[in-house]
This record gives sequence, structure tokens and C-alpha cells, in this order.
Amino acid sequence: MNETPLLELRNITKSFGSVEALTDVDFEVRNGEVMALVGDNGAGKSTLIKCVAGAHSPDSGEILFEGKEVHIHSPKDAAKLGIEVVYQDLALCDNLDVVQNMYLGREEHDVLQRLKEPIMEQRTAETLKSLAVTTIRSVRQPVATLSGGQRQSVAVAKAVQWNSKLVILDEPTAALGVAQTEQVLELVRRLAEQGLAVVIISHNLHDIFETATRITVLRLGRNVGVYERAKTTQQEVVEAITAGVPTKVSGIPAPAVGATA
Ligand SMILES: Nc1ncnc2c1ncn2[C@@H]1O[C@H](COP(=O)(O)OP(=O)(O)O)[C@@H](O)[C@H]1O
Ligand SMILES: [Mg+2]
Repeated sequence: MNETPLLELRNITKSFGSVEALTDVDFEVRNGEVMALVGDNGAGKSTLIKCVAGAHSPDSGEILFEGKEVHIHSPKDAAKLGIEVVYQDLALCDNLDVVQNMYLGREEHDVLQRLKEPIMEQRTAETLKSLAVTTIRSVRQPVATLSGGQRQSVAVAKAVQWNSKLVILDEPTAALGVAQTEQVLELVRRLAEQGLAVVIISHNLHDIFETATRITVLRLGRNVGVYERAKTTQQEVVEAITAGVPTKVSGIPAPAVGATA
């Protein structure tokens, strides 16, 4: 893998008052791969993602997108680059139908400011079809009538609808049963097959080993390793999560045992 990562974070540090949530963190994801971001509660996963999503500004460090340094100050900046985040609470509106949710805040109007309903409906159906989301009977169904897995699929479809290049999923299967989880994991794999870069945050190592190409482990706000899924084990990743040693000391990169950082 020689090509430039789609997203690369270098030496990201972020404090909240006296709490250093992230210290010199490096992270990358490439097109066509699923990068898992794992770590115990408080490890800094959400903070790292929020720096990419424009919800937080890092105190120091660099963010590169397609090899160029970028400054992401708002979710709008992130969206302009092609970065979409599917948050755990999904931010879907239950009372609205699938099409209305897909276009929420980005509705298409004609010259008379009327909604272009047929076009939005057609594009929604096309996006769902392209992702092989086939269980939703009608795109005019209110989201409240969908199952958990279907809702998650709509949230993912909404994220990829806008020519996104990078989709970040925060605990996408946390609220799902077994069959629905498999449906969503299949969708995650498909996004990467279509060439997108995908980041998945999960507590569930089963989900990670089912989908990820590589696994980045954070512990106490620091990098403790990047593992290739095919060359590691769940046990090794659990050990890194619970007892991993930082791969950098005082900003000087050090080789990580068993890791390919
Ligand atoms: N907005 C905030 N204000 C103060 N402390 C925060 C804030 N967000 C996160 N933290 C702290 O930063 C650390 C990392 O949190 P977080 O990124 O949410 O971890 P994770 O998502 O891995 O569970 C924790 O110690 C948390 O309490
Ligand atoms: Mg979190």
C-alpha cells in the first residue's frame, strides 16, 4: 500500500481543561478500506472523530486529506471535503419518511421553490439499491416504522448519498440484534468495496473482525498500535486495549511490538 492515505492525522493533541483527551495521536485511513478505531471508554475515540468531523478543533497536530493539509472548523467544512459521520443516536427524524430524512436540510427545490419530490424519491431509491438495501418496502415509509437495522441502513445511505469519500460510523450495531447486525456489517463492507474509506468505532470485536482491514487501538488518549486484521487475533487486540504501551514517547516514534504502525 503505497498510495497516499485519504485521511491522515499527525500528532493530534486535544485537552479539555486539565484532561488531555488525545496526546500526539496519529491515524490514517485509505480508500477501499475499513479502519476500526477501538479502545476502552475514555480512550479518546469520539474526541478524535470529532476533530475530523469539525465538532472540535485540535490544540495541535495536522490533518491531511488527499495529501493536503486541511482545517476543519465545522461539520459543513467536513461535508465539503466528503466526510460524513453517522453518530450513534443516528439523528434521524422518526416522524419523517425515508426520502425526507435522506434530504433533511439539503432538499432540492425547483425554480418556484417547490420540492423536487419525484427526483428526491428516485435518488433515494437508487442509493438504497446501490447499497443493496432491499428490505425497505417503501421510501415513503416513516422512519418510525423501520426496524433498527433498516434505520441504521438509512442513516448510512444518507451519509453516502452526497458523494462522500469518507464515512465514519460510531457504534453502528450497538442497538441491533444478530440478524440486523449482519445486515449492517454487510453494508459496511460494501461501502469499502465501492472504494470509500470507512472508519468504524465499535466495542464489539466480532463486528471489527468481520469488517475491518486494519485496527487502530487507542489507550488513555495515545496510540498503542495499528494491527492488520489478517495478521492479528482478538486476544492481541484486547491486550492492546487493556494494557497497550504507547508507541510514541515524548513525541519520538518508537517501534511497536507486534504492530505495524
Ligand atoms: N467535551 C468534553 N469536555 C471535557 N472532557 C471531555 C469532553 N469530551 C471528552 N472528554 C474527556 O476526554 C476523554 C476521552 O473521551 P472520549 O473521546 O469521549 O472517549 P471514548 O469515545 O474513547 O470513550 C475522557 O476522559 C472524557 O471524559
Ligand atoms: Mg465515545
